[in-house]
Amino acid sequence: MGEGKECSLASVYSSMANLHLLVVMLMVLAMTSADRLNESSSMSLTIEEEKADDIDGGFSSLDGMLQWAIGHSDPAKLEESAKDVQQLPQDEIKKRQSELKELIQNLHMPSDAELMKIAINDLSNSSLSLEDRHRALQELLVLVEPIHNANDLSKIGGLAVVIQELNHVDPDTRTLAAWILGKSSQNNPEVLELGALSRLMKMVKSDGVEEANKGLYAVSALIRNNLVGQELFFAEAGVQLLQDILSNSTTDIRLQKKAVFLVGDLAVAADLEVEKHGSFFRNGILLKSVVDLTSSSDLDLKEKALLAIKSVLQLKGKTSEAAAGVLNDVCAFDASLERMRQQLRELLTTYTDDDEFQRDYAIDLEALLNEVQLIFHTKLPNSSS
Ligand SMILES: *[C@@H]1O[C@H](CO)[C@@H](O)[C@H](O)[C@H]1NC(C)=O
Ligand SMILES: *[C@@H]1O[C@H](CO)[C@@H](O)[C@H](O)[C@H]1NC(C)=O
Repeated sequence: MGEGKECSLASVYSSMANLHLLVVMLMVLAMTSADRLNESSSMSLTIEEEKADDIDGGFSSLDGMLQWAIGHSDPAKLEESAKDVQQLPQDEIKKRQSELKELIQNLHMPSDAELMKIAINDLSNSSLSLEDRHRALQELLVLVEPIHNANDLSKIGGLAVVIQELNHVDPDTRTLAAWILGKSSQNNPEVLELGALSRLMKMVKSDGVEEANKGLYAVSALIRNNLVGQELFFAEAGVQLLQDILSNSTTDIRLQKKAVFLVGDLAVAADLEVEKHGSFFRNGILLKSVVDLTSSSDLDLKEKALLAIKSVLQLKGKTSEAAAGVLNDVCAFDASLERMRQQLRELLTTYTDDDEFQRDYAIDLEALLNEVQLIFHTKLPNSSS
């Protein structure tokens, strides 16, 4: 990465002016080397790739650079130019290729940190068009993928700017911002400190399916393995939020899957010294809504519900026994499991030889069901089965 080098927007944009040419040449290069697959070409993409690695920039491969450059170019113009170049005679193309080589060597390709700064600068500009705002957010979404970049985003003050976007009037802007925060939240407690959690939890209640999903994705990432985050989540009526999602049969199924997954996650990381955490897993309404999901026609949702209950039943000491008691008394868990077993068996009779994958999945699910039932019975107080 180009650490230590001041990010000059002017230099970056002047490089970008060369990008159109660069992309065209790279496309032609890709096409011509594909054409001459059997020839021992003097200059192949692999050689160029090694060269590209030496460039002081944030792109680890020529491909990454190409993707970025294409994203900043007009596709129609690009295709036209590429066609023009392709029709040139061979020696002309060769000449252009060596020009390209020189161009790559002289080009100062911006580092990821510089690109993030540009995106953050753009976002801070209130007169930016909505289209450019989306583009800046989409770039950040890709850039924060590596963990060190996510940390850099925090260092350059970018998180606060992205969190600000959660309040934007445009739902797509809010959705993209939540997605970025979810991606960059692992081991990044700063997002919590900046107060994003309650805003994200409000987004989960949105009528917009995408916004709700990305909101819950970010909430889950924020509180996973983070007890402070879980405290806040419970304090902001997180249990009610999960209950509403899980008990409402018209809720988007992806949202339900995320919610039920989070229940299991909370069980795995629970701090049972804290009363609120313990009572969460004795909450009959919540557990019942998870148990009811085992009758869903979606096998994946069935599985996630079983796994969540399994995690609850594996909680330490008295908590899992109390949960087993609630599952027995309030949720008629055994009866639900039997119904699920029946459904799976009926499903198996409908599969033909071509449905090998579904068949195996249903068989695996029944094995999981048996395992969960066994754990359930060992945890039941006065176990009599
Ligand atoms: C803000 O965005 C507008 C519209 O894209 C642009 O004209 C203006 O130069 C930008 N301002 C700054 C400070 O970048
Ligand atoms: C169930 O979800 C739908 C769609 O998200 C929503 O419109 C409805 O108000 C919810 N019902 C309850 C009882 O919360």
